[in-house]
Amino acid sequence: MFNIENFDIKLETENLGRNFIYTEEISSTNSYLMKSNDEFLHGTTILSEFQNQGKGRINRPWFSEKGQNLTFSVLLKNDLEKYNPNHISLAASLAVSNSIENLFQLKTELKWPNDVLVNSKKVSGILLESTSMGSSLEKIIIGFGVNVNQTKFIGEFKIRPTSIKFELRKEVTRERLLSEILNTFEEILNEMSKGSKKLLDDWREKCRMIGEHIMINVGDEKKSGIFYDIDANGLMILKVGEDFEKIKNGDVLVR
Ligand code: BTN
Repeated sequence: MFNIENFDIKLETENLGRNFIYTEEISSTNSYLMKSNDEFLHGTTILSEFQNQGKGRINRPWFSEKGQNLTFSVLLKNDLEKYNPNHISLAASLAVSNSIENLFQLKTELKWPNDVLVNSKKVSGILLESTSMGSSLEKIIIGFGVNVNQTKFIGEFKIRPTSIKFELRKEVTRERLLSEILNTFEEILNEMSKGSKKLLDDWREKCRMIGEHIMINVGDEKKSGIFYDIDANGLMILKVGEDFEKIKNGDVLVR
């Protein structure tokens, strides 16, 4: 069972996680915050031990064993005009990656757009959702799925899943990891309010696929080319022959 006191004692943020909701079971932490009206403060974070309708990217389900992992969502409401949502999702994956490296000395890698890998296996995924009022963003919800102590993964996966416990061969404290992710995420968001150059550079440095030949599923289409770079909006620039294509969303298949 998640110990809120142990989490709170290591939380160093001003906003993220300060309003903390803990629940044993929910449909999806993202859906819960998406449906909320004005009642929650900027930075509200909801963690659930189990999601019975956990959502992944591209309309896929996200399964996570009860009480083993971190499945949580963070609500951002303030100063949204300062941010590009694509950058926020890159920042979220960078925060998870940095936190895992700092706490457990495990080498991580980022896979576009926002997966975190350890030993080429997926340890975390991010799902960003938002609502708008007219032309301006009203709220952004960043859902984090981090495989922490689960060691058996049943089903078919595009990328093999793993967990921190599986890689370290020992049980991990979820409370400390959650506070570290929120501390790091807030720090990155604060830096980003002054500009996103550092974020993009840090992200690129951890994405070892840049420069490699890849295949990517974009909707029903399979494309292949060189993963040339990410652009200023965080979109993938794919070099196909002599042409450059921008990819907004997709699944990188092969390295
Ligand atoms: C992915 O497909 O890689 C993204 C997975 C995101 C899963 C998290 S778990 C917490 C939050 N609530 C959801 O329903 N999904 C996100």
